[in-house]
Amino acid sequence: MTVAAVLVAAGSGSRLGHALPKAFVPVGGVPLLVHATRVLLDAGVTHLVVTVPADQCDVARELLAPVAPRAVVVAGGPTRQASVAAGLAALDALRTADAAADEVDVVLVHDAARAFAPVDLVRRVVDAVRAGHPAVVPALAVPDTVKRVGEGDGAGEPVVETLPRGLLRAVQTPQGFAPEVLAAAHAAAPDRAQHEATAASDDAGLVEAIGVRVWVVPGDERAAKITTARDLAAAELPRGEGDLPVPVRTAPVPRTGIGVDVHAYDPDPPTGAVLHLAGLTWPGERPLAGHSDADVAAHAAADALLAAAGLGDLGSQIGTSDPVWRGAVGTAILAEMADRVRAAGFVIGNVAVQVIGNAPRLGARRAEAAAALTAAAGAPVSVSATTTDGLGLTGRGEGIAALATAIVLPVKDPPVAS
Ligand code: CTP
Ligand code: MG
Repeated sequence: MTVAAVLVAAGSGSRLGHALPKAFVPVGGVPLLVHATRVLLDAGVTHLVVTVPADQCDVARELLAPVAPRAVVVAGGPTRQASVAAGLAALDALRTADAAADEVDVVLVHDAARAFAPVDLVRRVVDAVRAGHPAVVPALAVPDTVKRVGEGDGAGEPVVETLPRGLLRAVQTPQGFAPEVLAAAHAAAPDRAQHEATAASDDAGLVEAIGVRVWVVPGDERAAKITTARDLAAAELPRGEGDLPVPVRTAPVPRTGIGVDVHAYDPDPPTGAVLHLAGLTWPGERPLAGHSDADVAAHAAADALLAAAGLGDLGSQIGTSDPVWRGAVGTAILAEMADRVRAAGFVIGNVAVQVIGNAPRLGARRAEAAAALTAAAGAPVSVSATTTDGLGLTGRGEGIAALATAIVLPVKDPPVAS
């Protein structure tokens, strides 16, 4: 006993709005009808008929030759029902010609638009037919409340009834049938097939119409029909566990960084030297010693940014002996490092700097300091300050320290470390 299938791929895909007919649109570089064919073959289908738009028969034969050399490609009709009917006629011819073959005991009808229906779903439908149900559909519970409406008045439509959601099922394909039942169902309604308004949207509906009971087995999310451009985009997403599309990398993960800098007070400051701290000059305060202007807050902020971006630290970026940066203003260093972080593919979220020392009293100029560092970094920098209760090098008044954290968001793949 073997399984035959009609794969309907003759629709135009008007709601998808792609240049190609829907079944010929590639996902992962492979056309939908090829994906769907593979699934059916993997599930054990031995006789396969594929219906495509009349002008696409040659293209489809070429596409399917390496995958399913024995598949028969025929032109579909103006509606899905007509396309299935054309496929069943071709299947009949195929089985007559191949009289020596095993008898077909299950016929599946499957939408190429449900290209990612898993193999075990196909097998579940086949098994249910073989278990004695002459018509089987896979289906899922309906998450929305469904209402039946009547004729509208232009402004809206009247609700006629609210259907009991617990008893509703959204039906998928492949649908499976005892061959004689499907043939009888289609034979009973050939005239309905020519127009979208009268045609059946699935085969089980035709079977119900001839009074044969249709049974439901559990469907699968992966068998969802690709209808719109959004469905197509979702199908292109990388596949996760269970082959479900997962939104990998759609939300970039933020990265944090930390930076610390300490400078000692200059024991012998040149006349006229002033303290540089947090982007400001502080007349009357003891200056710090250093190659640059010794702005510990700006340096810590720059280091935090570099760390967040994985770009090393100030030492590795510019080096303390580089003459270009000797005597450089802290805000200029911060601005340059922020630019390098952005050039490496990051958006800067914010930087928080804390100055640790006995003096100067930062409170009165906090907003001014934050504005200076913010302007340099091109991103929000907040400034706070603390003392250390007389302890440590800052407590003993030997110098000033600063601690900073930064958060950055990757907006493109980071460059390979150089
Ligand atoms: N189908 C078909 N022949 C038709 C219409 C539809 O073989 N005349 C097939 C489609 O190729 C698809 C399946 O029936 O695999 C389900 O139809 P649907 O998702 O509606 O596809 P299209 O009709 O192509 O899309 P649209 O309705 O947006 O135009
Ligand atoms: Mg359609």
